[in-house]
Amino acid sequence: MNASSPGTATPRTHVTGWGRYAPSQVLTNADLERMVDTSDEWIRSRTGIRERRVAAANETTASMGAVAGLRAIRTAGIEPDDIDLILLATLTPDYWMPSTAALVKEAIGNTKAAAFDVMAACSGFVYAFATGQAYINAGLAKHVLVIGAELLTRFLDYTDRSTCILFGDGAGAVVLSASTEPGGALGIEMTTDPQGAYMIWLPAGGAKSPPSVETVTRGEHFVRMEGNATYRFATKTMATTALESIRRSGLQASDVDLFIPHQANIRIVEAVAKGLDLPMEKMFVNLDKYGNTSAASVPIALAEAVNEGRVEIGDVVTMVAFGAGFTSGAVTVEWTADPARGRAGDAAVRPEDVSVRLPVDWDSVDPIPDALAELMRRPGSLDVPLDDVAPGEPERAHREVHA
Ligand code: ACO
Repeated sequence: MNASSPGTATPRTHVTGWGRYAPSQVLTNADLERMVDTSDEWIRSRTGIRERRVAAANETTASMGAVAGLRAIRTAGIEPDDIDLILLATLTPDYWMPSTAALVKEAIGNTKAAAFDVMAACSGFVYAFATGQAYINAGLAKHVLVIGAELLTRFLDYTDRSTCILFGDGAGAVVLSASTEPGGALGIEMTTDPQGAYMIWLPAGGAKSPPSVETVTRGEHFVRMEGNATYRFATKTMATTALESIRRSGLQASDVDLFIPHQANIRIVEAVAKGLDLPMEKMFVNLDKYGNTSAASVPIALAEAVNEGRVEIGDVVTMVAFGAGFTSGAVTVEWTADPARGRAGDAAVRPEDVSVRLPVDWDSVDPIPDALAELMRRPGSLDVPLDDVAPGEPERAHREVHA
């Protein structure tokens, strides 16, 4: 990235591209009934989730993020090298180092951008969006690719019914572009409440408790959660965070045409609507299909909402999320891009054409959890036509190119 000094007129930040990717394999509530003591009825009535997606063995957080990111770039009608900053929000990076954003940069064919990961759990995409907006408004970047990508199914304890039913895999992305045109990104609000630090956490694998036989035996590499405390935080904070972002935009809640809330639980979304005194029609919901995809949830929902015709030029859209930390964040946008561009952007990128390079002398262990092995042997069942081609195994060929 070549940073230059801010000019006299502060550039505005516009969403010019959007894209998403969801793996083809579906994990239904009926599948989970066979793994843990739960029921479709319990999961649907307590969460609204019917099914979620599971990444295939050859898919990674970077591969999903790269597909979504390239789709967003095609939607924006720019080239990968036009991007000068890549921000990737995730709590499930492929490695501790390098950043997953660095791998995405190579996979999308970008040679110029600075790239780094943003870690704020389920609020990560909103935090990354706000960061990209700040870079653009400061004149430090012209096009920023903001991705939320998660591969949560590899970090779940499939004997713990209180967590394994909630989460799924996927990626979503936007391109933010500098412009002097009116509209675009408006007010931001971000909060962090460390009192909730151990309410959702993954105990081991970090510096405090490095990986060991003991941490594996104790099951400390899986997501742990106090569901009730998290629920209470979410219902309280999502509405206040959204309202602050709307207030900073010089607007009122009733001015917002569509809310894109973090897709954690339909009851949380309903509570937010009630808190904002708004009808559920103003809340976009797709958690029934994907479950909670953490940092990917808001950008997947945004891309789907726009592609489904729920957003028009001039509409005010508020994205709001909460997550581990506890974090929460909201951004409000006056939409300025032609919504019809999204489907063409999706069609322009086939997942099989995107590959993430691996080191030549290393093979990972089989990444599929034992509990999901049988599921992953069956053919993927799909409701999103454009995602029917799972990324192949091009990394072998790619290795030769890059070796
Ligand atoms: N199937 C059947 N029963 C279950 C299941 C299940 N999958 N999970 C829990 N139960 C049982 C409990 O054991 C409990 O039984 P008991 O009464 O005999 O003790 C009963 O159901 C009620 O449990 P609660 O935890 O009180 O259920 P609740 O209605 O609160 O729903 C839930 C639990 C869905 C987890 C809810 O608390 C929630 O959505 N919390 C927010 C979680 C969330 O959004 N996390 C993501 C954070 S974002 C991030 O950064 C990762």
